[in-house]
Amino acid sequence: MSPTTWPSRNQAWELLNRYTKNPSLIKHAVAVEAVMGALGERYHEDIELYKRVGLLHDFDYEAFPEIGAHTVEGAKILETEGFPPIIIEAIQSHVTENNIARDTWLKKSIYAADELTGFIVAVTLVRPSKSLSEVTPKSVKKKLKDKSFARGVNRDDVYGGATGLDIELDELIEFIVRALMPISQEIDLHQ
Ligand SMILES: [Fe+2]
Ligand SMILES: [Fe+2]
Repeated sequence: MSPTTWPSRNQAWELLNRYTKNPSLIKHAVAVEAVMGALGERYHEDIELYKRVGLLHDFDYEAFPEIGAHTVEGAKILETEGFPPIIIEAIQSHVTENNIARDTWLKKSIYAADELTGFIVAVTLVRPSKSLSEVTPKSVKKKLKDKSFARGVNRDDVYGGATGLDIELDELIEFIVRALMPISQEIDLHQ
């Protein structure tokens, strides 16, 4: 499929902002979009497709946070808005309870990008410098073991995401930190 097939970034951005007012959720979307673009490049896949999935994966979360509603209600909206099944299914696959097999690089990527990106941003935000270049695999893994830190991040999803992509956790952490560098300002971090 050619990249021109996908709904535009502007359309996705408008949809995200229509349903999401919480600035942290918008920044999470932008962060995961950047990481997904980098993963699409890594797997020689369609970068724009990956980025749309990243930007929109939680667009319905503020309106429908419950398990069983998150991504399910969103799917109906995305369909009405003309988004193709490949995007809708990939978005739904990031919620384990939806029981969708992660059988493509796209689905494995959104699963691996989502929680670990959120966690790395949280680790960077608590540093006085808010500097991504100071964030190492060692510092991230230490925080992962600290159960009181960023409790909302499911550790099984973090480890499972890396396993699904067959990437060592250290390498995935470094990869995500690098992918966030160009958009650091947009998400209130420094390089
Ligand atoms: Fe989600
Ligand atoms: Fe997310």
